[in-house]
Amino acid sequence: MSGENNMTENKMSENKISENKNNVLIEVKNLYKSFDLQAGFFAKKDKNVFAVNNVSFSIDRGETYGIVGESGCGKTTTARMMIKMYDATSGEIIFHNADGSITDISKLSKKEKKVYQEKVKYVFQDPAKSLNPRMTVLSVLTDGLKYSTRKLTKEEIYQKAKDAIISVGLTEEDLQKRPSEFSGGQRQRISIARGLLLEPELLICDEVVSALDVSIQAQVLNLLTDLRRDKKLSFVFITHDLRVACFFCDRIGVMYRGVLVEEAEAKTLYKAALHPYTKLLFEAASGVRSNSTVEVKTTLEKESGCPFAYRCPNETDRCRNELPKFVDKGNGHKVRCFL
Ligand SMILES: Nc1ncnc2c1ncn2[C@@H]1O[C@H](COP(=O)(O)OP(=O)(O)O)[C@@H](O)[C@H]1O
Ligand code: SF4
Ligand SMILES: [Mg+2]
Repeated sequence: MSGENNMTENKMSENKISENKNNVLIEVKNLYKSFDLQAGFFAKKDKNVFAVNNVSFSIDRGETYGIVGESGCGKTTTARMMIKMYDATSGEIIFHNADGSITDISKLSKKEKKVYQEKVKYVFQDPAKSLNPRMTVLSVLTDGLKYSTRKLTKEEIYQKAKDAIISVGLTEEDLQKRPSEFSGGQRQRISIARGLLLEPELLICDEVVSALDVSIQAQVLNLLTDLRRDKKLSFVFITHDLRVACFFCDRIGVMYRGVLVEEAEAKTLYKAALHPYTKLLFEAASGVRSNSTVEVKTTLEKESGCPFAYRCPNETDRCRNELPKFVDKGNGHKVRCFL
């Protein structure tokens, strides 16, 4: 494809995003995050980890967007910037409020940040670490509300905890128990209930089913499917498992070493993945290829080539020296590869 065509197609996809503004919930634009390498004795000065590199995507109201990639690809860092737990090194995150106004989350005051963090909630990967074993479930769910911007009475707080715990398939009695009395799947339900407590608009679920047995995974995914339908929630669903993502998500972005390499509707990706990395993930999931032993390289320098080149069976000189553009191949199926 010629460079000119590439540019036209990029332009077209930009226009599509702006036409669609009415239904957009959140836009991530050219997001970067680099971390200083901790200054240990042998640490080199000016060494950075480039965890997220020029990531852009947008999510519509009611949509479930999957972020998929192996461990170390920058999924959690992206999520943490979306909830403003980390500030972005550069780039924008724009939230479209229900009243039609928009919020640039880099510009929030302390109080506005609290309001924002009640609209966008994050469910952590590991409930064993994030649920304090000494607290009752009621305290686990409601402790954060002490700092809430909504002035809720004790009765209202209890009612919210009761509604949330029932909505995840547990009971009011469970509020008085401790997290250790529950199984892994039930603890994940408690984490989800905590995320739901203040009726957020976007729930970011980070590897929430990864540590669970397959049958329990299915139960938690069914619960999330019900919540999505009943509460008209939008989701970011982060996982390393492409097949789970295809089952649960409307659209998926595949990430490699901090870069989005492919984005498409889940059903399109399942039938017609284009990027060699996406194909590798599918092959690994279906057992055609055993899980690769090649690790995701940490990106320590700003790289100019394709992030996947060192692992790609089809790489050429050009791949090592030039980053492919993210080209729309039609219907929003975007891919970043010279092939
Ligand atoms: N707080 C941090 N300090 C330094 N490096 C980090 C930090 N958090 C993440 N990283 C690095 O950034 C990269 C992306 O990590 P992460 O976002 O956790 O990936 P994923 O969630 O896809 O596994 C990794 O190389 C990781 O080691
Ligand atoms: S650009 Fe080159 S190295 Fe990168 S995925 Fe495509 S063929 Fe492979
Ligand atoms: Mg992670």
